[in-house]
Amino acid sequence: MKTYILFASLFLVVGCFSYKSAPVAQSDIDRVAATYPDLNLAALKQGQMLYETHCNNCHGYKNPASKDNEGWSKTVPRMAAKINKKKEVLSKNDQELIIQFLVTVGGKPKDS
Ligand code: HEC
Repeated sequence: MKTYILFASLFLVVGCFSYKSAPVAQSDIDRVAATYPDLNLAALKQGQMLYETHCNNCHGYKNPASKDNEGWSKTVPRMAAKINKKKEVLSKNDQELIIQFLVTVGGKPKDS
C-alpha cells in the first residue's frame, strides 16, 4: 500500500512538470521583449489555452523548442488550415497568439 501511494504521488509530481501544465510567467515575456514588444501575460495565456485546446487533437503536443519563429509562422497557419477545413475555428489572430506562445516558451525567438 505504501509503495502504491509512493508511486501514485511520483506520477502526480512528474505530471505537474510535464510540458502541458508549465505555467507561463512575466519572465517569459521579458525574455522575448525584443521580438514581441507588445506581448502581455493575458495574450500569452490565451495562446497557451488555444494551443492546448487545438494542437493535440490529431497528434501529440509538438515540442515548442523544435522550431523558431520562422518555422512556427509557417507551420501554425498550415495546421490551422486543416483545423478550419469545415468552418473557421482559429482566426488569424488566434494563430498569431499560438505562434507567439510557441516561440516564447520554445525559447527560440527570431535570429537565434
Ligand atoms: C486536423 C488535425 C490536426 C490538428 C488539429 C493539428 N495538426 Fe499538426 N499535423 C497534422 C498532420 C496530419 C500532420 C502530418 C502531415 C503534415 O505535416 O501536414 C501534422 C504535423 C505537424 C507537425 C510536424 C510537421 C511540421 O510542419 O513540422 C507540427 C510541428 C504540427 N503538426 C504542429 C501542430 C500545431 C502547432 C497545431 C495547433 C495549431 C496542430 N499541429 C494541430 C494534423 C493536425
